[in-house]
Amino acid sequence: MSTPRILGTPLSPSATKIMLLGSGELGKEVIIAFQRLGVEVIAVDRYANAPGHQVAHRAHVIDMTNGDQLAALIEQEQPDLVIPEIEAIATAKLAELEGAGKITCIPTARAAMLTMNREGIRRLAAEELGLATSPYRFASSLEELTQACAEIGFPCVVKPVMSSSGKGQSKLDSAADIKQAWDYAASGSRVDAGRVIVEGFIDFDYEITLLTVRAIGADGQVETRFCEPIGHLQERGDYIESWQPHPMNTVALERSREIAGKVTGNLGGLGVFGVELFVKGDMVWFSEVSPRPHDTGMVTMASQVQSEFELHAKAVLGLPVNTTLRCPGASAVIYGRLDEQGIAFEGVADALRVPGADIRLFGKPESFARRRMGVALATAENAETARERAREAASKVKPVSGKA
Ligand SMILES: Nc1ncnc2c1ncn2[C@@H]1O[C@H](COP(=O)(O)OP(=O)(O)O)[C@@H](O)[C@H]1O
Ligand SMILES: [Mg+2]
Repeated sequence: MSTPRILGTPLSPSATKIMLLGSGELGKEVIIAFQRLGVEVIAVDRYANAPGHQVAHRAHVIDMTNGDQLAALIEQEQPDLVIPEIEAIATAKLAELEGAGKITCIPTARAAMLTMNREGIRRLAAEELGLATSPYRFASSLEELTQACAEIGFPCVVKPVMSSSGKGQSKLDSAADIKQAWDYAASGSRVDAGRVIVEGFIDFDYEITLLTVRAIGADGQVETRFCEPIGHLQERGDYIESWQPHPMNTVALERSREIAGKVTGNLGGLGVFGVELFVKGDMVWFSEVSPRPHDTGMVTMASQVQSEFELHAKAVLGLPVNTTLRCPGASAVIYGRLDEQGIAFEGVADALRVPGADIRLFGKPESFARRRMGVALATAENAETARERAREAASKVKPVSGKA
């Protein structure tokens, strides 16, 4: 892998240039972290005025699932690093360009490819690395799904292999739910509308994201560092609250780090990974991994010395990182509640009056009822209090119509 050795001046021939593929709220924070280091940032998304577009040196709107459009833009901009920030990208094209020595993809094109499809990462984790996962089957038709559910048993979870944020995902309690789950999966799938994974339902005590950072250490070798575990609450497959640290017993924490070390070690490259794990007592199951900052990790903007975004930016540039917890913290999502363009937010001042609280509004041009438009952050002497504060702050922010 090649990392830029020195940092240059943006918009000059010495510039260190990075291209972010996906410029939502996570991308926006990654960009801000790069901006602080004087890195020239090219932000790409599929729609205009995406959050990251608004803080980058240049913004482009392309269909990132179209390999030709992606290659043309890379050719035009000649970035030192290409950083996928979302899953829905023509990753095969990235692999081709990486193979030809034309780009350095973060963390690796293979990691982007494997993790955009649940089948790729699940087979790697369970079948190649031997990690504990929920029992699973894949199905490409209603008949195959019926058979797969019979083998896995109930309750189980059905998800499109190409989807994220809980889209198209359902929990099935009996065979009577199969048809509806199949139809729903087809509607929520991104690319390959016809394939799903069926997973046995894990009755976990709690789930965590273990942010894992691969960065260059003092001796020039890649080191693996772990952030404190992040607990989170999911509703309809979408995260609504997260907090750090989540208390864990030593055995479960040790196992979690071992799993995270194995999977990120195999994916390789540099940067932050969000390793999702289910925990019950001492038992730990690998669920999935993002080869990039994780939405539940937004809490680190309040709780860590260096947020996951800063860690990512520094790690991919080959710089040292610090994964230390600063103080317990929490995040709570602010949804749009309205289907409208150009909405406004009331109550921000009230939210900021909650002790230890802070707010991020992403600046998304269009709101949907269930679209994440912002996040409340909070710190406290313990994660429980931080959660209460973040929830309270989020509840004070009220999306209203932006029309006069
Ligand atoms: N096999 C499972 N058993 C229990 N809960 C699950 C299972 N799979 C998913 N979930 C729940 O649904 C959430 C979203 O699932 P996940 O596979 O992470 O999808 P996404 O890629 O949309 O985040 C998980 O964080 C967890 O709360
Ligand atoms: Mg997930």
